[in-house]
Amino acid sequence: MKRLLPLLLLALLGPIAWLTLSPPQAWLDRVRRVEVTPAEGQRLVETYGCLDCHRIAGRGALKAPSLDGISQRLEGAEGEQVRRWIMNPKRIKRDTAMPRFRLSNTELEAILLYLASVDPQR
Ligand code: HEC
Repeated sequence: MKRLLPLLLLALLGPIAWLTLSPPQAWLDRVRRVEVTPAEGQRLVETYGCLDCHRIAGRGALKAPSLDGISQRLEGAEGEQVRRWIMNPKRIKRDTAMPRFRLSNTELEAILLYLASVDPQR
């Protein structure tokens, strides 16, 4: 039993560590499913601290491009690129300051809906 204990621990902690450190998208989509509404998007923008770097509708910092106007770039291939960026910035630009938030797809769409709803350029 004494020899088995470390193995048992590994078997238990392995999957937990895996889900914490590199959760697959399907898992994130399941555990971080949110309502796709502007209100939920606003809550997420506050929670994840997008305003620490970005300006959104006149609020927030200027360490990164303003997100005003982003809602005009959500169609087609360009929209795909914007979505890929938000989901995993370092895959597109290795040395970017923007962290990966490990968003679910519903979180992403809620955030985009919020950004569109406050976009002064719309
Ligand atoms: C620590 C700072 C930081 C935080 C926090 C951050 N970003 Fe960024 N973001 C950047 C930087 C810097 C860029 C510009 C790309 C570059 O040069 O690295 C960027 C680029 C972007 C772009 C692409 C802009 C464009 O014009 O193509 C989008 C969209 C974006 N961020 C959305 C978000 C959202 C949504 C959040 C919150 C969930 C967020 N960012 C949080 C730093 C940040």
